[in-house]
Amino acid sequence: MKFFLDTANIEEIKRVNALGLVDGVTTNPSIIAKEGRPFEEVIKEICSIVDGPVSAEVIGLTSEEMVKEARVLAGWAPNVVVKIPMTEEGLKAVHILSKENIQTNVTLIFSVAQGLMAAKAGATFISPFLGRLDDIGVDGIDLIKRLKLVLANYELKTEIISASIRHIGHLEAAAEAGAHIATIPGSLFPKLWSHPLTDKGIQGFLKDWEVFNQRLEGKG
Ligand code: E4P
Repeated sequence: MKFFLDTANIEEIKRVNALGLVDGVTTNPSIIAKEGRPFEEVIKEICSIVDGPVSAEVIGLTSEEMVKEARVLAGWAPNVVVKIPMTEEGLKAVHILSKENIQTNVTLIFSVAQGLMAAKAGATFISPFLGRLDDIGVDGIDLIKRLKLVLANYELKTEIISASIRHIGHLEAAAEAGAHIATIPGSLFPKLWSHPLTDKGIQGFLKDWEVFNQRLEGKG
């Protein structure tokens, strides 16, 4: 499974990238707005740190606006992937961009039908939103499993990015379901390698080691 970071925060990206765990980055207008810096500056800086795909989202709602924006975004760095909303106009834009070899990530996917439409239109990635489905009482993991099956049935090359991940359980279930990628918030990532029993275990070993050495030195 590939890990993307769902953040535009440079410190968060550098921290996880230092562990060799970052295969790409996803952003959206809300994530970029949190950084309080110009969009272009942020995306270019992320692309200079991360080799893998970096998603930057269009704002326009018509296919003409999306395609125009996408061509500009794709010119910022070779690894920019243009994020396009899952609408009829979005699908039209994806179809045009795929013929220009501009990579796309179709976002805000909430059904198998939407995922299949995006893949057929030529999307490089599709982003089903697990957390937002959970919020309305729908099983997001079931959507991942069904999308995986449908893409495999027709040998579609589109990769599934499990998005809107809120907790470790989401990540683990998405991995079990065979999602190609999980995009993980910067605040959640450190929790993936932590466990209270690990910390407790280390403390116990260090304490026993100290006692053992004190005995050897005749202090115990
Ligand atoms: C994905 O690409 C989105 O940026 C993100 O996962 C949305 O997550 P949220 O539902 O927590 O805002």
